[in-house]
Amino acid sequence: MPTTSVSTTDPSEIDASSSDGASPTHRHVVSFVRRGARMTSSQQRWLSTWGPRWIIDMGWSPLTPSPEARPLDLDAIFGRGGPLVVEIGIGHGESIVARGRAWPQARCLGFEVFDAALASTLGKIAAAQIDNVRLLKADAVWGLTTLLAPASIDELLVFFPDPWPKKRHHKRRLLSPAFVALAATRLRPGGVIRVATDWDDYARAITEAFATEPRFHLESTDRFAGRPVTKFEARALAAGRTIHDFAFRLQTEDDHG
Ligand SMILES: C[S@@+](CC[C@H](N)C(=O)[O-])C[C@H]1O[C@@H](n2cnc3c(N)ncnc32)[C@H](O)[C@@H]1O
Repeated sequence: MPTTSVSTTDPSEIDASSSDGASPTHRHVVSFVRRGARMTSSQQRWLSTWGPRWIIDMGWSPLTPSPEARPLDLDAIFGRGGPLVVEIGIGHGESIVARGRAWPQARCLGFEVFDAALASTLGKIAAAQIDNVRLLKADAVWGLTTLLAPASIDELLVFFPDPWPKKRHHKRRLLSPAFVALAATRLRPGGVIRVATDWDDYARAITEAFATEPRFHLESTDRFAGRPVTKFEARALAAGRTIHDFAFRLQTEDDHG
């Protein structure tokens, strides 16, 4: 397992006084804002009990800049090989735990920056009694770039990414042409990225972003059967918003004909 540090965007450097995250003082634009560390007593217990087991400890904080970085040794971390599922922004863990249960051979890696969300997910992993989910407290864009090798991901999940609805915040949206280009390098040929959003204009932007990478083809707009209803989706449905699902598959060499 790597024990070196890395150079990255440090979310803790975002100006917390900028309550809406619109004008961070940091040089990078990230898709999240720093949130309070307040946790329930259960979340605190889950974090202290299960964090050491399921949150990947790299020996350094992935949120602290450093000049060295290398891909994770996933075989060592999971204790075995197997298909790799990566979820970005696990929230309270409903989807990654469901994926781990439904696909026991897979190794499921979840990125999240919010402690309370990580803690809730740990509680769900423990309740599900599964051992194929690991979590990383890190900006997933940096994580994909630095910690994961090219062509290493079989399935990438991005469910309800923060919508950043105001036009001046659109640059914060995770799913951009730059992210699509990154995803195309990290997915293995034949791998799939599954996306859901409840914002119509983000759905349009997602379609446009994937159109910039001809190696992705839109395989489905049906709801992915393995995606449970999370509290974010329930809130969107209660507000009368429409859910948009996408599955884009990365072409293989054979697809060239
Ligand atoms: C709207 S929530 C959706 C959570 C979950 N996917 C669901 O469907 O319920 C978005 C989550 O993504 C996380 N997030 C945003 N940008 C991220 C990034 N660059 N890396 C890791 N997590 C991120 C946020 O902290 C938040 O928990």
